[in-house]
Amino acid sequence: MELLYPLLYLILLSRTEAKGISWSCDDYQANFTVKEVVGTWHVVAIIPEKLFPDNQNKLTCYKVEFSETDAAGLQWLVNNTVGSKHKVDRLTNSEGTIIRQRYHSERPFDVWSKSVEDVNGCFKQVLSLDTDKTELSKAITHDDMMQLHLLETNDQAGPFLLQMLWGRMISVVVYRRHEGVTQEELKPVYEMTSELRGPQRIPRICDRPFRDVLKEI
Ligand SMILES: *[C@@H]1O[C@H](CO)[C@@H](O)[C@H](O)[C@H]1NC(C)=O
Ligand SMILES: *[C@@H]1O[C@H](CO)[C@@H](O)[C@H](O)[C@H]1NC(C)=O
Repeated sequence: MELLYPLLYLILLSRTEAKGISWSCDDYQANFTVKEVVGTWHVVAIIPEKLFPDNQNKLTCYKVEFSETDAAGLQWLVNNTVGSKHKVDRLTNSEGTIIRQRYHSERPFDVWSKSVEDVNGCFKQVLSLDTDKTELSKAITHDDMMQLHLLETNDQAGPFLLQMLWGRMISVVVYRRHEGVTQEELKPVYEMTSELRGPQRIPRICDRPFRDVLKEI
């Protein structure tokens, strides 16, 4: 049986199953500025982790919009949806950048993450919601970490955006401003990741065009 939203499912699973979570992204100072990251990116590949299922013969690609938001806006949203006081307090009590990722997947949803002090590009997930804000039970998530890193390779397609994760399914989600990539082009990504995190599996390139359901809403 083919899953309806396989890659997304694996990313989420990857994140919730994270073992030995790195609370500060291994103290790696990523190449990250909000200004360079906002806007639309396409998932073009992933670097699988040990438990990534090899029988996953299709990898559905999708588009993700990154935007910056502020604590007040997020707090308002939390108050008006899940209303968790705990999370609200944690948000108001600290400074930092908050970014929203809008996943244009078959089941569109948003994830808000807050920057971790002193470690560039390191974020802790605060809230995720379906864009129609229905499944609130799943809204508050598990403090999962991610790190965003811009990797310039000086080819015409522009930099890669790497989203490093700490799960057992996916090591890195690889984004580009435009769809499409080759293994050859992914070499610097593979090398950089291996250098940082030890031996890696061969990247899996997304091989099915995504269908943007959001633009029809
Ligand atoms: C959110 O709720 C908290 C506590 O219930 C309240 O103090 C705060 O003013 C509310 N903030 C917004 C932006 O609605
Ligand atoms: C860091 O990101 C910026 C913006 O994309 C890029 O110009 C620069 O070359 C990057 N540095 C590295 C080491 O990739």
